[in-house]
Amino acid sequence: MPNYQDIIEAIASELNNVKEKGTVASYIPELSKIDPNKFGIHLVDSQMNHYSAGDADELFSIQSISKVLSLSKCFALVGDSIWERVDVEPSGDPFNHLSLLEFENGIPRNPLINAGAIVVADILVSNLENPKDEFLYFIRQITNDDSITYNEKVAESEKNTGFKNIAAANLLKSYGNLENDVDEVLDFYFHQCSIEMSCKQLANAFYMFMNHGKCQRGKTYLNINQVKRINALMLTCGFYDEAGEFAFEVGLPGKSGVGGGIAAVFPDKFSVVTWSPGLNLKGNSKLGMQALEKLTTKTSQSIF
Ligand code: DON
Repeated sequence: MPNYQDIIEAIASELNNVKEKGTVASYIPELSKIDPNKFGIHLVDSQMNHYSAGDADELFSIQSISKVLSLSKCFALVGDSIWERVDVEPSGDPFNHLSLLEFENGIPRNPLINAGAIVVADILVSNLENPKDEFLYFIRQITNDDSITYNEKVAESEKNTGFKNIAAANLLKSYGNLENDVDEVLDFYFHQCSIEMSCKQLANAFYMFMNHGKCQRGKTYLNINQVKRINALMLTCGFYDEAGEFAFEVGLPGKSGVGGGIAAVFPDKFSVVTWSPGLNLKGNSKLGMQALEKLTTKTSQSIF
């Protein structure tokens, strides 16, 4: 087995010298306050050994990484009926693009672009009595950590400026692909994106995607075939119009967020999370992608 601790420490120190760290997201004003020099990485292997470097215990906004977790909760709850309302094809478009949605009559390309995640949020709002409480409970259960919570300021900040998402939700509604009130669904969606977690907590949450649906406490949340599908979606759609580049450079299923986090898994081997707030032009963490490329190259461990 590779010496993960030595490897991730070497990666953290190599990236410390990189000057071009990307740009912190500012379209959600509350996120623009984050220090661009933060960098964390945490890896948990299949035997539940933990390896950490940098700011791996510091909380950050998980943003779109939450889409994998809401999809999981939804898939476990309603099964394959979800695929009647959202497709499973890569979009090749930015995360907030709307033209394909109009072109394809209100069926989002996949559940990891914003429009798809809004449909998933709608299904959760329809099926849960108290969606925000129950979703948070699910995340606390899979991580075994009751300290995880929403950041109300970030949710409010996105609510005030999330005009593209408001447009997406209205477009979905116009095609009959949104059951609930636009405002109610978006309130849930903005909250799920506002959840704050550290690299370590997220690596714990993603453990079940590398462990056939079973969390570290041994409870099964998704069956093997559901995990297969979620990992396939991460690989093909997790980085929007940069999914090809991530597969090419890193070679793992993963998901990014505009808070600068990236979570990735190697089935049966490890779950790993990086955090560096500067984003590249596609909205994915610039140094996070470089760190994961170094990890899979230095360890010669990728699904390919
Ligand atoms: O809906 C949005 O625009 C944000 N709450 C999440 C976007 C995001 O994280 C895209 N990922 N790289």
